[in-house]
Amino acid sequence: MKPTVVSGIRSTGNLHLGNYFGAIKNFVKMQEDFHCNFFIADCHSLTTHPTPGDLHKNVRQVLAEYLACGVDPEKATLYIQSDVPEISELYMYMNMNAYLGELERTTSFKDKARKQPDNVNAGLLTYPVLMASDIIIHKAHFVPVGKDQEQNLEMARKFAKRFNRMYKNEIFPIPRPFTFDGKSMVKIPGLDGSGKMGKSEGNAIGLVEDPKSIHKKVMRAVTDAGPTEMNQEKPEVIQNLFQLMNVVSTPDTVLHFDDLYNKCEIRYGDLKKQLAEDIIQFTAPIRERIIEIEKDDAYLAKVAKIGAEKARESASKTLQEVRETIGIKRFF
Ligand code: TRP
Repeated sequence: MKPTVVSGIRSTGNLHLGNYFGAIKNFVKMQEDFHCNFFIADCHSLTTHPTPGDLHKNVRQVLAEYLACGVDPEKATLYIQSDVPEISELYMYMNMNAYLGELERTTSFKDKARKQPDNVNAGLLTYPVLMASDIIIHKAHFVPVGKDQEQNLEMARKFAKRFNRMYKNEIFPIPRPFTFDGKSMVKIPGLDGSGKMGKSEGNAIGLVEDPKSIHKKVMRAVTDAGPTEMNQEKPEVIQNLFQLMNVVSTPDTVLHFDDLYNKCEIRYGDLKKQLAEDIIQFTAPIRERIIEIEKDDAYLAKVAKIGAEKARESASKTLQEVRETIGIKRFF
């Protein structure tokens, strides 16, 4: 039997290069060898209070983007979280064994509470419980996630272990982070020199972004005054541009600019121009497919329906076991 994999992406807007290289590219590889469940975490997005219109639009967009990137609904189970109510029920049960102290200590909760002080809702606090439920509802063995999700996954492991121990029943496998070749997932930097590419950081390049806008953003990327010594170590902002180049450009191109940098002959304008071109060339076919798929309501509806059916079949089995295990079972 193939091991089971679960991973999700929150539907907070258009997917960007960071989502692609940090997650989806691996999903596409994994669907060949694992029993994969990939989903759109729309319930998780509710923690930041999107408008109904935005939420709806974003879920549709992310679904089209998953498909355009090569996630194959015939190979993987591809679904929308809210289409699987079993997850919400499991989330309720799991909440009974998650403690305030441990939830309050989670870094992502503290970050969010700082970012949205007027909306520190209970859903934000129990975010890791919902994420754990997403994972264990399919009895997943592996979860491909980036570095920023390590703590949430650690919580999921803790909740699964606690449940097993509490009921003296090995109902859940303990999910493990998944990495190819033991390397952690690539982190794609943003263009503002401030670390990770993220939708909310405003430093991202979308997969569906038009060439002009990509060009403009790349040309505006933060740089420094340039190297002053041969073979000098690159500061983070410059390393970031090279890191992006590493994933979209040919090795020869990277080598060429690396060489110029080391000889102190680099012109950042040239580097950015090349980088913009290579990003545009890389995203063009994906962008075309996104635009094509987005138009096809019938196809999107069909994919979502089949995905929901497959996901519910697996989820309801687990939920039945959980109900029996905890004593919620009708005898009349
Ligand atoms: N929290 C994840 C993120 O923001 C999204 C997510 C929700 C997820 N449920 C999950 C990821 C289950 C992996 C498994 O990226």
